[in-house]
Amino acid sequence: MSFYVTTPIYYVNAAPHLGHAYTTIAADVMARHHRQRGEAVFFLTGTDEHGEPVADAAHALGVTPQELADKNAERFKALAPQLGASNDFFIRTTDPQHMAKVQEILARVRDNGFVYEGTYEGWYCPRCADFKAENEIDEGRRCPIHHIELTREQEDSYFFRLSAFQERLEALYAEREDFVAPGTRYNEALSFIRSGLRDVPLTRHKLTWGVPVPWDTEHVFYVWFDALLNYYSALSYAPAPAGLEAEGAQLDLTQTFWPATYHLIGKDILRFHTVYWPALLMAAELELPEHVFVHGFLLMDGEKMSKSLGNVLDPFAVIERFGADALRFYLMRDVPLGQDGSVSTAAFEQRYESELANELGNLASRSIAMIERYRDGAVPSGDVDPALREDFDGLPERVSARLDGAELTAALDEIWQRVRRLNRYVEEQAPWQLAKDDARAEDLDRVLRTLAEGLRSLTVLLWPYLPASAERLLAALGAPDVSLGGAAFGAGTIERVSAIEALFPKDRSAA
Ligand code: MSP
Repeated sequence: MSFYVTTPIYYVNAAPHLGHAYTTIAADVMARHHRQRGEAVFFLTGTDEHGEPVADAAHALGVTPQELADKNAERFKALAPQLGASNDFFIRTTDPQHMAKVQEILARVRDNGFVYEGTYEGWYCPRCADFKAENEIDEGRRCPIHHIELTREQEDSYFFRLSAFQERLEALYAEREDFVAPGTRYNEALSFIRSGLRDVPLTRHKLTWGVPVPWDTEHVFYVWFDALLNYYSALSYAPAPAGLEAEGAQLDLTQTFWPATYHLIGKDILRFHTVYWPALLMAAELELPEHVFVHGFLLMDGEKMSKSLGNVLDPFAVIERFGADALRFYLMRDVPLGQDGSVSTAAFEQRYESELANELGNLASRSIAMIERYRDGAVPSGDVDPALREDFDGLPERVSARLDGAELTAALDEIWQRVRRLNRYVEEQAPWQLAKDDARAEDLDRVLRTLAEGLRSLTVLLWPYLPASAERLLAALGAPDVSLGGAAFGAGTIERVSAIEALFPKDRSAA
């Protein structure tokens, strides 16, 4: 089994913000989960560096596009590890290998008869790097996303014959209802296709910041075609992920990982990924991805969070104060993947305090402290309490099933309900009472090992969401293995626990 997940590649016209962190974190949760299942995983993220948004931003700053791209690509590259993201590669569309691949594939698309010369005229948003259809234009000829005035553009272009794929795309959607998720996004893409596909510009003449068109060097490729191809090109030159490289000297990652299992994207770039992208792959005779999952927007004050609107929450600042795990948890728990959701510092602090610090952090420190106090740190051997079986049985399978459908929030909720169940178990059993009565020593033994094993099992499942904290906790439980095969409640054997400092210290939230 192999699993290949991608994030969109981020524009380098501005610094990273929480909206970008959101997709990267979601992809990371999926990548880690599939690694836990023992699958070969490739997780790709990177930066989109060509095109007008970058050229314009560089011009405004008085630097070259390459200088701006170099500077901001570094910031995106640095963000990934700070988020705890375990991406296997970071692609930049200015990588020469990527550019060569774009030229190769798009020349093939032309050889296959899907490119012709023409003139394009339309309303254009330089921020989206996108021509808008009449029904996508806000009042005052403004971009509905960026609220800036659209420009009337007319230019000689080579066109991609998107219209030739009308029937094949309709057939694709009829055959594969899970090609696009959630269902509302599937419907949105399908109705766009059904409304009638028109050919789209493949190249730009007025712009020089892009991948040169090999058959006409007066043109560069329209940035979206260059960008979409990153998902394919990366596999042709990225180094093999750890663990895979040992098998063969020169592993062909394209063969192992193409087609992609999941493209995670935001809803603003739906049309490119659910219409243009499959059509382009068909034109190039390449296999189509299995799923495109479309998430919503993080909103602040009801508006999409975006650098150009100036309403951003700085992920670097949040991480510095609370740690990456807290940010990952908050975003995955509070904004169901697939829907829009408001984010705020108050909601973040509330989740941190009540769920991470109280429900999980306290459960862990209290359970470990009781095993140390009552049993000198040795976990009594024997079976776990059958009273919890009903709540815990089948949990890893349920979590996997949710994650297979990219239901990251629902999967986390399955786990969290059991965190709460264990907390109730502590209250019900009151081990501090049992400890007072020698006749109840066996009961206390059972409660303590049930707590240790319950924590272990849940922590393995939480690892994709809270990797650093989960590893600390599993180390304290003397059970570092995070493989899913051993996640079932009752499957582990914990011998000793060791003291652990607060996983989510409360004073941080007051800092
Ligand atoms: N460069 C293109 C993508 C090319 S993929 C072949 C692009 N870049 S972007 O930096 O503008 O946006 C990248 C992703 O971040 C998009 O999926 C977008 O939806 C997401 N987000 C940007 N702001 C967001 C929020 N406020 N909330 C959630 N995600 C949003 O588009």
